[in-house]
Amino acid sequence: MIQADMHALFCASCNNSPTDIHGSWTFFPWHRAYLYYFERILGSLVNDINNFRLPYWDWENIRALPSAYVSPSGAGNSLWDASRDAGLAGGGNLPSGDGTHARIDFTGKKEPDRVADRRDTYVGQQVSILDNRGICQHSGLCTDTLAAVFRLTQDPWIDPNGANREEIIAAVKNCPSGALSYAIDSIECREEVDQVREPTITVSKDGPYRITGGIPLEDEQGKDEQRAQGSSREHYALCRCGQSKNKPFCSGMHWYVKFHEDKN
Ligand code: SF4
Ligand code: FES
Repeated sequence: MIQADMHALFCASCNNSPTDIHGSWTFFPWHRAYLYYFERILGSLVNDINNFRLPYWDWENIRALPSAYVSPSGAGNSLWDASRDAGLAGGGNLPSGDGTHARIDFTGKKEPDRVADRRDTYVGQQVSILDNRGICQHSGLCTDTLAAVFRLTQDPWIDPNGANREEIIAAVKNCPSGALSYAIDSIECREEVDQVREPTITVSKDGPYRITGGIPLEDEQGKDEQRAQGSSREHYALCRCGQSKNKPFCSGMHWYVKFHEDKN
């Protein structure tokens, strides 16, 4: 019991503890130390501290419980647990997540106060720029590379006459979220914006998953995920921080919540 309490002491969702170790670098060493002492406590209880070992297996690669845990079933098997999930006990796979979604009350719904799904047209002399703010991932590539057209502090934020046609087309093609497109003589050039690329998922630094190459996206019912107005099917950005107001797509919230991931 004391060991269970010790575990809960460092888990916010178990105990409302201010010292939650989940989601930080301390997670792994803390659990390693916890298991080390847990093993020694059990070993001393059975008077075999030098030889007693907790059972474990390579669950990252072997997703089902090893047969030793489930067969034979019943009290004769010390690895058998009658309260274990029936699917697991029957040979099913471990859940794919680590439980974080429950801990942070994750919801995949779109928020009512998200930026509207609306495409605006900025008519220029050589080229018109089409923009849906609802799916911009705030990568800043457009404002960084063509600040005379994509203007951070002015209204309207896009000036389609601020650069020549080639420069604008290059910047639009570089937009990773699919928020931008362009039109010439009132005809949208979505096919020119979308590139022929190998299907690829890129983890962006402290930002969303960037999808390129037209990877299909299905909802939980297996139906084609509903897309925003005018968005690209070839490239789009999926939320990684969990805070998007327009899930499953990135809405730029990672920037506001200062999402940070040490690994990338
Ligand atoms: S996602 Fe596209 S529109 Fe949004 S900031 Fe980046 S380049 Fe600009
Ligand atoms: S990664 Fe952009 S909103 Fe979550």
